[in-house]
Amino acid sequence: MKVLAIVGARPNFMKVAPILKAIEVHNRSSENPSIEAVLVHTGQHYNAIMSDAFFSDLDMPQPDVFLGAGSGTHAAQTAEIMRRFEAVLLEQKPDIVMVVGDVNSTIACALVTSKIGSIGGKRQPRIAHVEAGLRSFDRSMPEEVNRVLTDHLSDFLFVTEDSGLRNLKAEGIPEERVFMVGNTMIDSLRAFQHQADQSTVLLRLGLQRGTEEAKSTSPYALLTLHRPANVDLADNFLEILEGLQALVQSHPIIFPAHPRTRKQIEHFGFAKYFQFLDKVQGDVRPGSIALTDPQGYLDFLCLMKHAYLVVTDSGGIQEETTCLGVPCVTVRENTERPVTIEQGTNVLAGVAREGIRSAIAQQLGRSAKHVVPPLWDGRASYRIVEVLAAQAKNDEPRAMASVLN
Ligand code: UD1
Repeated sequence: MKVLAIVGARPNFMKVAPILKAIEVHNRSSENPSIEAVLVHTGQHYNAIMSDAFFSDLDMPQPDVFLGAGSGTHAAQTAEIMRRFEAVLLEQKPDIVMVVGDVNSTIACALVTSKIGSIGGKRQPRIAHVEAGLRSFDRSMPEEVNRVLTDHLSDFLFVTEDSGLRNLKAEGIPEERVFMVGNTMIDSLRAFQHQADQSTVLLRLGLQRGTEEAKSTSPYALLTLHRPANVDLADNFLEILEGLQALVQSHPIIFPAHPRTRKQIEHFGFAKYFQFLDKVQGDVRPGSIALTDPQGYLDFLCLMKHAYLVVTDSGGIQEETTCLGVPCVTVRENTERPVTIEQGTNVLAGVAREGIRSAIAQQLGRSAKHVVPPLWDGRASYRIVEVLAAQAKNDEPRAMASVLN
């Protein structure tokens, strides 16, 4: 069986790396039907800090195929990935195309696969979607459109949390395509936590670690913002900065800024709100939002683990903080990952200053109690490979229940 594994943007790398590892382990046993993995990088994210750093941190093989699609409007970027991926698909003739998450690369490659028909006498490749079923029910988010469409094109839907099962059922996706496997991003977190502990990033920033027992001893908060709705309009961006004012008086905030956010800060003339630590070095001033370059995987895990509080508009960080037991405030009106609120450490703040202030206040008084969701145990990738291997043997997908039992 040949699997094309697709990565494109930063949040894809830590979801695919453990699946490649699990395939390697699977292939070591001579009893198993061998699975050939071909790694395709669309180039949606392309520079050293958004892409290359993750390959070395995650000990990931270099891509077998690099499409170099790059940035652009949604239409231009998606179309460019589609155009370049079609040629690869025709040449590689895989049995399965595996896409992850909700970025433009995800829908682009799923759509090309669904339209290709049979290739050179082989039947049309099947599509596997890792992180299926998540829904924000907000179609103004490009990611929501990508999720819904990809799920409806997929033959294997690998789900991370119960809400995903409910959503797919409600949308009429046949149950035999759906597999509750857990969270491959958490596989990476668990695999690399020890290495992240060796990171020198705190030392470089003149910061100390919080203790396991008392997060309140952590001397800093951590911020990420990159959603177009939050950073592409000056008023919205300012509203969030206002909402952070009380927090920044008590704790300096470390802010690894996404390239989109960095561009907007320059464009809006917002530099005065930040202390710039471009080299990720130097002492963070009390009372400041210290802006750094985006961090590599291990340094960012370390920053998250030892933070007093994380404020974010990212999807994956809501899950990682839940796993680490670090309080998280999500600066959005909705989340496609409700388990992080129901069982984890996350609260939704909305995007208005008052909501952000009160969510932060609520989190500062919170007890550390939280539950790590079922199957976020570091083994999700192995469950996925088990399903694919069964497919290689029988040519038939197995029902969700048989994976759970
Ligand atoms: C994408 C995903 C989003 C994900 C985010 C993580 C979609 C629709 N969105 O958003 O779900 O949370 O990645 O980062 O796929 N840029 C660089 N260097 C790079 C990559 C991008 O400077 O290596 C710049 C681009 O020029 C562009 C901006 O960052 O101005 C946005 O990049 P893009 O890939 O279009 O979307 P993201 O906002 O990163």
